[in-house]
Amino acid sequence: MNFRDILAEKSVFLNKDALSPHYLPDRIVHREKEIEKIMRAVTPVFKAKRPNNVFLYGKSGTGKTASIKHIIKQFNELPSSGVINYVNCRMYNTRYKILQKIAADITGFSKNGFSPSVFYEKTLDWVENGNRFLIIVLDEVDVIKDLNELIYTLTRANDDLKHGGVSLIGISNKISFKNQLDTKCKSALLQTEVVFPPYNSDQLSEILQQRVSIGFNEGVCDHSAISLAAAIAARETGDARYALKLLMYAGEIADEHKSGVVSYKHVETARKTVERDLVSEAVATLPEHQQLVLYALSLLTLKGSKYQRLGEDHNHMFMTGELYETYQNVCKDSGKEKRSSRWCKEYLRELEALGLVETIESGKGIRGHSTLTRLLYSPDWIKKTVEGMVLQSD
Ligand SMILES: Nc1ncnc2c1ncn2[C@@H]1O[C@H](COP(=O)(O)OP(=O)(O)OP(=O)(O)O)[C@@H](O)[C@H]1O
Ligand SMILES: [Mg+2]
Repeated sequence: MNFRDILAEKSVFLNKDALSPHYLPDRIVHREKEIEKIMRAVTPVFKAKRPNNVFLYGKSGTGKTASIKHIIKQFNELPSSGVINYVNCRMYNTRYKILQKIAADITGFSKNGFSPSVFYEKTLDWVENGNRFLIIVLDEVDVIKDLNELIYTLTRANDDLKHGGVSLIGISNKISFKNQLDTKCKSALLQTEVVFPPYNSDQLSEILQQRVSIGFNEGVCDHSAISLAAAIAARETGDARYALKLLMYAGEIADEHKSGVVSYKHVETARKTVERDLVSEAVATLPEHQQLVLYALSLLTLKGSKYQRLGEDHNHMFMTGELYETYQNVCKDSGKEKRSSRWCKEYLRELEALGLVETIESGKGIRGHSTLTRLLYSPDWIKKTVEGMVLQSD
């Protein structure tokens, strides 16, 4: 084998980048309404007026980041006294880092070691002296550590300004996010809300089709592969990132097998890989005790409930009490200090928001009123993943 051989290998891909999560397509299909609503909210800038703050909410992979980037691109094509500054809060996750980044982006002032108020003043001077309108996009706003302080600082900025203004566009995929905000910040940030619903299978097919035409060689991606990838992603969470990943992995598998075409069979194989990737990614970023609750749930799912069966409809669903008991045992066995059962319920809410578990309120008859939880992924796999991450040294 030499480089020439490798380079001469045929691939189903024409431009694999088009399938990567960072690729920004020219058209964001099925988001016309949401994009229009955001654009209308931002439009006052073109008339030298301060826009309302906007909050975008929707599950992972529903096109929030793609839509806002699309809007920024269009915004930058027209002259205005406004600037939209995009902040990825995963990278800039504190008030300090964010104020520093904004000051650096718009004024070029980017020294270390200054207090946050220096960056704040620099930014406000720039806004006021030029009678400018600054719109700050805080993508994944829920990961900011001192969120309330930041929102408070940025919304209060307008009281300090004689000219121009500062507006915010917050983006999150966490349902519980609003509870992190205190009342004042909540009403400030949520002036205009735009919800991004999950995609259905037809919409995902169209999103995939658009990428297939750029990403794959003509005619190599079978229709059956596109519909299966769309159907799987729609059934899971309506996540376009997941659908795209399925198709990209399917293409890689097709290349490995030198098959020249991508069929639904490759998507089926890809599904296993993608699922594992996604779950271990999600599990890896969980706080330790959420991992332990998830672990306890996987143990219960494997062993079954020691209490009376709840009936066929509730197969592999467990009551919070029994789950908490198992979690306590896990903590004891691994020498970790357990958290209260109230925390356990909060963790379950978070795990549900991430799509790792599902909870239902049991109807009457099953031990009064209680919550039942089910693991949404293979218990063996979850067990192994958590063991590898937290329980390694035990
Ligand atoms: N309507 C659409 N048309 C074309 N591509 C889309 C559309 N919606 C999403 N995508 C693509 O799917 C992937 C995920 O979308 P995006 O990053 O915008 O999701 P998100 O809502 O920001 O998710 P998260 O909450 O996880 O950040 C991206 O590659 C994006 O380009
Ligand atoms: Mg995003």
